[in-house]
Amino acid sequence: MRRILVTGGAGYIGSHTCSALARANFEPLTFDNLSTGHRWAVKWGPLIESDLRDPRAIRSAFETYAPDGVIHFAGSAYVGESMMQPRGYFRNNVESTLNLLDAMLDCGVDRIVFSSSCATYGLPKVLPIQESHPQHPINPYGESKLFIERALWWYSQAYRLRSVALRYFNAAGADPDGELGEAHEPETHLIPLAIAAALRSGPPLRICGTDYSTPDGTCVRDYIHVSDLAAAHVASLRALLNGHIADFTALNLGTGIGHSVLDVLRCVAEVTGQPVPNQACPRRPGDPPVLVADSLAQSVIGWSPAHCALPDIVRSAYLWHQEHYEVPF
Ligand code: UFG
Repeated sequence: MRRILVTGGAGYIGSHTCSALARANFEPLTFDNLSTGHRWAVKWGPLIESDLRDPRAIRSAFETYAPDGVIHFAGSAYVGESMMQPRGYFRNNVESTLNLLDAMLDCGVDRIVFSSSCATYGLPKVLPIQESHPQHPINPYGESKLFIERALWWYSQAYRLRSVALRYFNAAGADPDGELGEAHEPETHLIPLAIAAALRSGPPLRICGTDYSTPDGTCVRDYIHVSDLAAAHVASLRALLNGHIADFTALNLGTGIGHSVLDVLRCVAEVTGQPVPNQACPRRPGDPPVLVADSLAQSVIGWSPAHCALPDIVRSAYLWHQEHYEVPF
């Protein structure tokens, strides 16, 4: 069975990907410092409780387990926080990734799937956003992801490291079997916060900006089911292992459908049967008005999303929060 080192495998998208890897007959080795991930989310292989800031620990994991490839999720992922603490974002996202890449090169592991983001595009000039769209991030989080993409491209040229950077749009939803779901502490994402507001287990939902140049004045995003993201990682890994990707490739992962914040609130109200108490608030720094994907993923790795309808995505998140997990505040 082929082994895959999954950094951040105890996190939201990482744990769903470990589950998908196990179903596809890979053994996931979760490398996670549990700073934001959860021990309970590691169910399909060993947990290496360690930190990417420690080069010796990474090297020791490679020597002990001899993985065939790497999927790299670990990192800080809050746009708003990155605006206030860029220092932490560059240290945690860039420095740690360079440590990981050093260990890969030194240990002869030459395939990696990297968790990138639509935040690398900044303010889109053309919609939907294609992979060839210029990348000019407007927050340190996006900038840190773009830096790694550029490093991966240069490493592919100099060291023949093969990589796929997956630029996620808005990850949402939960495992349909109810084994996993979104559990951020604190929670900042729209769908879980709107569900908590609807269930009265959280405060009224703050609508961050009602004066954007969008049809209803609120931000538009492309929400993609986390299980679809997980499947795209497995498809990318297969393409790397089969030799179909020879250097560096970047792919957008979205549905191609945009929903405004108000659309999401209406959908949450429909799914939960409860209105979502809300209040209009100022814009959140670092938020682009519209992000919607166009994607080459179908033609390059044979992937397309299976759960495109927003009510399906919201329903899976609702079931998770109802049966397994209360959003913390
Ligand atoms: N929003 C609110 N109120 C909230 C939370 C969010 O109005 O309480 C709005 C945001 O302003 C945004 C939309 O809902 O317009 C979605 O916000 P999320 O926080 O759920 O997601 P983001 O779009 O900020 O972030 C996501 C990923 C990031 C990624 C980013 C790209 O979490 O990793 O998309 O912009 F980088």
